[in-house]
Amino acid sequence: MCGIVGYTGPRVAYPVIINVLKRLEYRGYDSTGVALLGKDLKVYKKKGRVADLEEAIVGQDVHAHTGIGHTRWATHGEPSDRNAHPHSSATGKLAMIHNGIIENYTQLKKELVRKGYEFKSDTDTEVLLNFIEDIKENNQCSLEEAVRVALKRVVGAYVILLVDRDEPDTIIAARKGSPLVIGIGKGEHFLGSDASPMLEYTKEVVYVNDYELAIIKPEELVLKNLGNEKITPYVQKLDLELAAIEKGGYEHFMLKEIFEQPQTIYDCLRGRLDAVEGTITMAGVQNYIGQLTNANRILIVACGTSWHAGLLAEYIFEELCRTPVEVEYASEFRYRNPVIHPGDVIIAISQSGETADTLVAIEKAKEQGAIIFGVVNVVGSSIARLSHSGAYTHAGPEIGVASTKAFTAQLVVLTMIALKVAMEKGTITRERFMHLLNELHEIPAKTEIVLQQSEKIKELAEKYKDARDFLYLGRGYNFPIALEGALKLKEISYIHAEGYPAAEMKHGPIALVDESLPVVFVATKDSYHEKIVSNIQEIKARKGKVIAVITEGDETIKGMADDVIEVPEADEIVAPMLSTIPMQLLAYYIGVAKQLDVDKPRNLAKSVTVE
Ligand code: F6R
Repeated sequence: MCGIVGYTGPRVAYPVIINVLKRLEYRGYDSTGVALLGKDLKVYKKKGRVADLEEAIVGQDVHAHTGIGHTRWATHGEPSDRNAHPHSSATGKLAMIHNGIIENYTQLKKELVRKGYEFKSDTDTEVLLNFIEDIKENNQCSLEEAVRVALKRVVGAYVILLVDRDEPDTIIAARKGSPLVIGIGKGEHFLGSDASPMLEYTKEVVYVNDYELAIIKPEELVLKNLGNEKITPYVQKLDLELAAIEKGGYEHFMLKEIFEQPQTIYDCLRGRLDAVEGTITMAGVQNYIGQLTNANRILIVACGTSWHAGLLAEYIFEELCRTPVEVEYASEFRYRNPVIHPGDVIIAISQSGETADTLVAIEKAKEQGAIIFGVVNVVGSSIARLSHSGAYTHAGPEIGVASTKAFTAQLVVLTMIALKVAMEKGTITRERFMHLLNELHEIPAKTEIVLQQSEKIKELAEKYKDARDFLYLGRGYNFPIALEGALKLKEISYIHAEGYPAAEMKHGPIALVDESLPVVFVATKDSYHEKIVSNIQEIKARKGKVIAVITEGDETIKGMADDVIEVPEADEIVAPMLSTIPMQLLAYYIGVAKQLDVDKPRNLAKSVTVE
């Protein structure tokens, strides 16, 4: 959370920083600020979005060639002008932005207060900044040296960028646990929380690792560890085009990303699945095939939507590979004392590859000898780099805060892994394997067909937008999709929604049902079909409104439900890739009908880099 930006070079820094900040707003949008280092050091900041800052500082001097910028997701201190970053040090000589949490900031603050420091904000960031300045002033050392000394005392996660009035054209950056990328231009450098927003300036990037510190000038990039030893920067080329991070004519990123799914699923399959030859080629799986097939159990760790993908993977792996699977919320797993045996396989699922809880969970498991297999979307992200092996989901940049195309890509990748492992283990017949390969191959085309129903789903959104609560029900492979549908609705429309296994409803939630409650059934034709038909009847008997996602031509449910959305027939293992799309569209259109900012829902951020 929080987006950080830096620039030093021949351009005027301010427009570059604002441009990149706008692209990073998905990481937080409580307040915005910039520090510009020219003849003087100027700090401008404001509660609200990047556009609010731009408006507030019209007419100010913004001509410096070095600067840093921040878009905040509040942790310590409410969103306000004074808690906005950058923070200025007590002398006003330093300015700093920060993404992360300094856990021992109260201790550091006490020490500083004893020395007479006063604080203008409630943030941990201002404490760390003054701690750095205190070291610098007392030791009469460079900013770089002071940062190094200070960070050895810091407990927590951070990316920090600092500028010093006495060190022109220079940005000092350091990272632990939050992402930092340096873009390399001709006689200029860019810094950001994420590589893709820098695309229009450069495609050459360096991913900074934990415990590294960078001294950045227009012509020079020096990377060091906290022991002051130089590290050779590893420059990588971004394989992305600018169009991937623009709206391309859609009203919102979320809608664009929903509609991209035929292509992203195709991209995910491309070069991997050959339905004619009957092969799945995934180097990351092949390299660890022994560990994957011999695993006594597989643990899946993830958060949010990625956790839902993990839950579905549990059903698929157990069915196809006969390997016991446990799915864990990373935030719980990391603080339990989980039993991990050397050789256990952990699959970490993450769109951003930066989710703090997932990252720490796998660090812990790795220390205990587990094999970490990452299913990650963002190339070069921390989870991808920490994993022993893995498979990228290739969904492209996902900018809408609610995850859509990354989720379906996760389902595709996880299904391919399960199929490959099952074939290797001999727990699937060749015939079933070939059938499922074909089914996967047809998913992009079937996704197109589902998307053709968007107008109908928009009408349903109008019809149900004023409901106070929603219930989402599904069984078997469709149960995780019910959970995901409820999550999408909550985050995008702020309507309370609960996902439940349809049969569990009788053990409590059925008490909620009356004529005002819409109940969304994910009820495509599968092994549980008859059972879910009974569950629908139970809701209808209590006057609930039923919206059902069904397989094309399912006259039984059509005759019972108030509204249906039809998806093409598909094997029950791959059908969730289709049935999830109406859930995404329903949440999107309800959010739009309620005039909400669907790309940036309140209180959320795309990349949860704090625990
Ligand atoms: C929901 C959503 C979140 C993320 C979760 C994990 O739409 O986007 O629930 O799925 O924060 O994020 P990643 O997948 O980046 O680890």
